[in-house]
Amino acid sequence: MTMRDKLGLLERRAAEAEQGGGAARLKAQHAKGKLSARERLDLLLDEGSFVELDRFVVHRSHDFGLEDDRPYGDGVVTGYGRIEGRLVYVFSQDFTVFGGSLSESFAEKICKVMDLAVRNGAPVIGLNDSGGARIQEGVVSLGGYAEIFLRNTLASGVVPQISAILGPCAGGAVYSPAITDFTYMVRKTSYMFVTGPNVVKTVTHEDVTMEELGGADTHNQVSGVAHFAHDSEPACLQAIRDLFQYVPSNNVDDPPRGRNTDPHDRRDEALLDVVPDNPNKPYDMHEVIRRVVDDGVFYEVQPEFAGNILCGYAHLGGYSVGIVANQPAVLAGVLDINASIKAARFIRFCDAFNIPILTLEDVPGFLPGVSQEHNGIIRHGAKLLYAYCEATVPKLTVITRKAYGGAYDVMSSKHIRGDLNLAWPTAEIAVMGPKGAVEILFRKEIAESDDPPAALDARMNEYRDKFAHPYVAAGRGYLDDIIDPRDTRPRLIDALETLRTKRDRNPPKKHGNIPL
Ligand code: HXC
Repeated sequence: MTMRDKLGLLERRAAEAEQGGGAARLKAQHAKGKLSARERLDLLLDEGSFVELDRFVVHRSHDFGLEDDRPYGDGVVTGYGRIEGRLVYVFSQDFTVFGGSLSESFAEKICKVMDLAVRNGAPVIGLNDSGGARIQEGVVSLGGYAEIFLRNTLASGVVPQISAILGPCAGGAVYSPAITDFTYMVRKTSYMFVTGPNVVKTVTHEDVTMEELGGADTHNQVSGVAHFAHDSEPACLQAIRDLFQYVPSNNVDDPPRGRNTDPHDRRDEALLDVVPDNPNKPYDMHEVIRRVVDDGVFYEVQPEFAGNILCGYAHLGGYSVGIVANQPAVLAGVLDINASIKAARFIRFCDAFNIPILTLEDVPGFLPGVSQEHNGIIRHGAKLLYAYCEATVPKLTVITRKAYGGAYDVMSSKHIRGDLNLAWPTAEIAVMGPKGAVEILFRKEIAESDDPPAALDARMNEYRDKFAHPYVAAGRGYLDDIIDPRDTRPRLIDALETLRTKRDRNPPKKHGNIPL
């Protein structure tokens, strides 16, 4: 055979590899509102940047007739490409080939790109659309998953790992995403469950639809397993591209700088009126975030879960920051189990990847209640405390209003290595709110007085004068300054500039023991 003949053979095989599970299965994939594995990569990556690896890999199974069906690529497209010019490693599971199920070879292909990503300090993005372990391969397939889980774990905190769930993902196909940093889902076409509705029916006799059991809304609103839900695959893939405006490629790189067209010294008059005069009235902390960050752009993480705390990314003076903010508009911004877990994981990602943390604080405390106590608010609240304490990235805090009780300590206080702790004049910092405090301290006196409501009011006013302001904390140096709210943005940008060279580290150890 001549070189030209051999090239012809290569082209034919390459074309065959591109076919995946064939035209009929591709048509069925499209009919379900899903894109093909390759179409997804085209949308995710910069145009023409994808370089495929391992396109001629085939499976090694000899059972259940699989020996007669060895499609090139074996159901997963792997390789590397660019997002805004930056290197990323990718795998895209092809549901048209054996339901995207994972074989030994399939797992080896994924492991190869994960190893390359860690070695070259680049993120891994997995596009998942898989029925889990390939049943015909038995334990070999389970071993393949375990190899991936190991790599997910070792890569955690070294390179960002992103998962998109773009179809029905079952069994092992959900545990790898669960170890990664961010999980994106698409409404009506993506599902995650350990076992599907049929198994659930058999075991627990519960009737449940795919959507209710593991749809995008369930995992974004109820379980907290996923971080983002989008209405279409293109929107989902674009959102993954957008995330890389804020996160670095690995744990030794700095995060990317924003375009930074918003003046650093911009003061915002409207910040004077965001916090209502009545301390019991809610307001929307999104408003504060939008008015402070560059061009008002906030990339919110888990926007539909534990709305009493807001987490997300923004640029401030071009610097990438992770924002954690109590949300007085939802449950008065109280810290509960879900809020603690959500924010703790977010903080740990920021700390692992050198992203400074800005905390906006207005918190009445931890949520009281039997259900919270019995479900472990102590253990889960401790996660948030631990995450803030161990973080060594620059930590900036602005107390806009309430900072009561344990929540004052937790929310990046000076005592746990806050680098810059500011308060607005509206801040109230004390062990508890005026009513609760007075009822404990003066219960007997108030009950025995001629006019209990008036006695309560008098004591509350006294307490307010003494504690419901930021001056005691500032007098101790627990706050670095009390500022005009309009200066928030310039003060924070100035602090980020001074903290660029921050050096801090924790004692050497194998690893800590965060309360899980
Ligand atoms: C081999 C599989 C497969 C699997 C699907 N297929 N899952 N082949 N191994 N795990 C094949 C089907 O036989 C079918 O082939 C094609 O993929 C499409 O599947 P359908 O069932 O027709 O599609 P759909 O109706 O959309 O249902 C998708 C599904 C369902 C919900 C994912 O296929 C399903 O429940 N699969 C099994 C899920 C599961 O229990 N996996 C094992 C998990 S255990 P044909 O030729 O007919 O088109 C596991 C262990 C890891 O993963 C443990 C880690 C901790």
